[in-house]
Amino acid sequence: MSEPPKPLRVALAGLGTVGAGVIRLVEANAALIARRAGRPIRITVVGARDRNKDRGVDLSPYTWEDDMVIMGERDDVDVVVELVGGSDGPALACARTTIEAGKALVTANKAMIAHHGLELAGKAEAAKVALKFEAAVAGGIPVIKGLREGAAANAIERVYGILNGTCNYILTVMEDTGRDFADVLAEAQAKGYAEADPAFDIEGTDAAHKLSILAAIAFGSNIDFAGVDTAGITRLRAADIAQADALGYVIRLIGMAETPVGETGQTLFQRVQPHLVPFDHPLAHVDGATNAVVAEGNFSGRLLFQGAGAGDGPTASAVVADLIDIARGEIAAPFSVPVGELEALPRASSANRMGRSYVRFMVTDRPGVLAEITAALRDAGVSIESLIQKGRSADGAVMVAMVTHEGPESAVHEAVRLLAGSASLTEPPLVIHILGE
Ligand code: NAP
Ligand code: HSE
Repeated sequence: MSEPPKPLRVALAGLGTVGAGVIRLVEANAALIARRAGRPIRITVVGARDRNKDRGVDLSPYTWEDDMVIMGERDDVDVVVELVGGSDGPALACARTTIEAGKALVTANKAMIAHHGLELAGKAEAAKVALKFEAAVAGGIPVIKGLREGAAANAIERVYGILNGTCNYILTVMEDTGRDFADVLAEAQAKGYAEADPAFDIEGTDAAHKLSILAAIAFGSNIDFAGVDTAGITRLRAADIAQADALGYVIRLIGMAETPVGETGQTLFQRVQPHLVPFDHPLAHVDGATNAVVAEGNFSGRLLFQGAGAGDGPTASAVVADLIDIARGEIAAPFSVPVGELEALPRASSANRMGRSYVRFMVTDRPGVLAEITAALRDAGVSIESLIQKGRSADGAVMVAMVTHEGPESAVHEAVRLLAGSASLTEPPLVIHILGE
C-alpha cells in the first residue's frame, strides 16, 4: 500500500479579515481542496497580536505562535501565509526569514510586494521556493494567474481597471445617493474593504501598489511603484458625479499601465486617477466593492476579469488558490520571467499623451471670471467641447465644468498652471481625464 500524501502544513501570520476568512475556507472546503491539490492543506500554526481576541473562528486546533518572524523556521510548517500587512516591519521580516528558511510564502500584501517584490522574488528563486501573491491584486479575481498563465502567449499592450474596492464602493454610493465623500467612507471601512490606513485607499496608493505589480507581470518589467502617477478620489464632489452623469459618464478610479514607444524605445506609463468612464464602457457597470481588470493581448484581444476585489471570502479564495498551487509543487517565477530578466523600462513622458478631459473650476461669482478661464484655455491651446455653469454652492462658490475636445493632456495642465494663484478661483481646478477606447 502506498503512503497517503503528506499534507501541506500552513502557518497563518495575521488573523484579521483575511486570516479568519482563510481558516473558514480551508475548514469548509477541506475535502474538495485536498482532491484538487492532490493532498490535504492543513493549517498547523497561527499567530496575530492579541491571542485573546474573539475572531469568530475556533483556534483551538492550531498551535499559537507569537513571533511571526520565526514561523517559517518551525519544523511543523511548509508554507507561511503573511496576512498582517504593511510594506515593511514584521510582514517583511516574516517574508524574508520564511524564504531564507527554504519555505514557501503566500501573501495578500500588495504594499510589501510593490516595494520589495523583486527582492523577495530573487530570494525565492535562489531558494527554489514559491512566492505567491494572487490576493494582493484585485482580491478574489484570479488576474495574476490569468495574466501569468492564461494570457502567457500574448504581448500585453495595455492593462487597466478598477483596482480598489473601497473607492469604487464610495463612488458608487455617491452616485446612487448624491451623498458627499466623507459621509460614505466610514461605511466602506465598516464593511472591511478599507486598508488599516484608509488614506492608502482614498489617495490611490493601494491601487498604485496593485497597478505596479500588474504592470510587472503584464509587461515583464521591473516593478516601478514610484513611477505611478497617482491621485485619489478625495477632491471629488457629489456635483462632479452629477455633472459626469449629465454628460453620459460615471467617475471611476482607474489604474492604467501601457508601454508606449518613446524616442529611445519602449517606455512604461503608469497612472492611477479618477477618470470619466462612458456609460457604454464595461468598466462603467462595475459597482460597489467590485474590481475589474482589462488586459489587451495582441492575440487574445480584450480580456475582462471582474469580481469581488476585497472582503474575507473572495480574498481567502485567492490565498487558498495559491496554497493549492504550492501543494501541487508549482514554483514558477513570481513575475512570469526570472527577476534577472525583467526589463528596467524608462518612465514614459506624458507630454504627448492625447485625450479628452473634464475640468472643473470653483470660482467666485463676479464678472470676468469665465473670460479669465477661457482665456487661459485659449492661451494653452485647449479647445472646449461643452461648458456648464452651476448655481452657487453653500460656500458661495460657483462651479464651472467643461469637457475639452481631444488634444494633448499637457495643454490642459498648462491652462491650469496659467490660472494658478488666480483670485477668481476658490480652489485649484480639478482635471479628470476621460477614458478612451
Ligand atoms: P486586518 O483585518 O487588519 O488584520 C491584520 C492582522 O494582522 C490582525 O490579525 C492583527 O492582529 C495582525 N497583526 C498586525 N500587526 C501584527 C504584528 N506586529 N504581529 C503579529 N500580527 C500582527 O487586515 P486584513 O484586512 O485581513 O488584511 C491583511 C492583508 O491582506 C493586508 O496586507 C491587506 O492589504 C491584504 N488584503 C486585504 C483585503 C481585504 O479585503 N481586507 C483584500 C486583499 C488584500 P490582531 O487581530 O491581534 O490585532
Ligand atoms: N483596501 C483594498 C480595497 C482591499 O479596498 O480594494 C483589497 O485590496
